[in-house]
Amino acid sequence: MITAIWLMLPAYLPNSMAAVFGGGRPIDGGKIMKDGRRILGDGKTFRGLFAGTLCGMLLGMLQMYYLTQSSGIFGVELPSFGEGSGALLVIFTLAFGSLIGDLSMSFFKRRMGFKRGAPLPVVDQLDFVMGAWLLTFIASPHWFISNFTYSIILAVLIITPLLHVSTNIVGYFIGVKNEPW
Ligand code: CTP
Ligand code: MG
Repeated sequence: MITAIWLMLPAYLPNSMAAVFGGGRPIDGGKIMKDGRRILGDGKTFRGLFAGTLCGMLLGMLQMYYLTQSSGIFGVELPSFGEGSGALLVIFTLAFGSLIGDLSMSFFKRRMGFKRGAPLPVVDQLDFVMGAWLLTFIASPHWFISNFTYSIILAVLIITPLLHVSTNIVGYFIGVKNEPW
């Protein structure tokens, strides 16, 4: 469980940080598709994408720094994101991939007629995990396979919806999220 959260931290943070720092110009430029609906909607902005990626990468780098001081936490050995620039790439694909997953799902949500912010249980909670995994697997297949074992993947799939729901409720009450999901 701890290992699963540790590996996913650079992918978890970007979504919350996008909600905190997001706003401004939407990525789809306000464009409407032939179906009369927005391509992505006002909930996906450049500022959210950049700030989210940056925050996720900063957290990943802090984690790498932590590993130079200590090899684990609560007696649990923690894995590294790789060596040198390989680690930077993994941290980047985890952070950026999570936002791309969320953004891709917004595209499909708009095509299905869901308005911005409409809840889609399970999908809302796992789209960013899938994006982070897919991009990281493509960019660093060897690192991915040796770190995201079946038991880690299972742990992530169980923990993520719980973490996501609780952080969104916090986000809603501090006023950065429009809906508590
Ligand atoms: N956000 C952003 N840019 C992104 C992702 C998120 O600015 N790339 C901000 C938006 O202000 C958004 C908030 O974070 O409203 C919460 O994100 P999310 O729940 O993913 O967006 P929704 O508004 O629910 O839109 P959607 O229905 O498309 O998921
Ligand atoms: Mg949403």
